[in-house]
Amino acid sequence: MIPIVAIDGPSGSGKGTIAKLLALDLGWNYLDSGLIYRCYAYLSKNKINNIKEEILFIKHEFDSKHEKILYKDKNITADIRSAEISMLSSEISQQQQVRDDLFKIQKAYLKEPGLVAEGRDMSSRLFPESKVQIFLTASLEERLKRRLNQLRNHGQKVNISKLKDELTLRDQRDSLRKESPLIKTVNSITVDNTNETVEETLDLIKNIINERY
Ligand code: DC
Repeated sequence: MIPIVAIDGPSGSGKGTIAKLLALDLGWNYLDSGLIYRCYAYLSKNKINNIKEEILFIKHEFDSKHEKILYKDKNITADIRSAEISMLSSEISQQQQVRDDLFKIQKAYLKEPGLVAEGRDMSSRLFPESKVQIFLTASLEERLKRRLNQLRNHGQKVNISKLKDELTLRDQRDSLRKESPLIKTVNSITVDNTNETVEETLDLIKNIINERY
């Protein structure tokens, strides 16, 4: 069986950073499922037909510090990480049809030698067989700070109180929606990294992986 680490959590919990570094460290495949919903939202906003097929033209290049998202050689990184696409992806991800369209695309990331998958329903729906299920979280203030830095790094102007409202609304919608909401599965281990460094969080999760695989 191919080993899987499933990391779920709210926006700004650090799951992107942690999952990416883990995947690079282990030499495993990396699934940023939120990115796939963001790409769907981007293509839909730009009135692109046949999104299920077009989404396959999107490439995600990354190392530990940088990422580049390309659609047919157009750099769409800043758009994809914008506040507008954050909200739109959260809205469209409520639709069962959209989730079904993206299910197979996400499943295809499961390949040897292993997979680190992060999102909202990795443990509950996509990879319930995963022996390592992490529910990663942090305080609202800390998550807000991280989102703020992320947007500023993409050169975007940010209104802090608006961002706080958006983050809260997105959390509520992602956790309360009918279809595959963000939940903590019975097998998940909660990791609150409000006061932990990235390295400390990584070490903690690596210890869990070593115990289970
Ligand atoms: O992780 P993120 O902020 O990039 O995700 C963007 C949106 O995509 C999020 O608000 C809800 C949706 N999403 C989802 O419904 N299921 C997932 N597994 C991942 C993301």
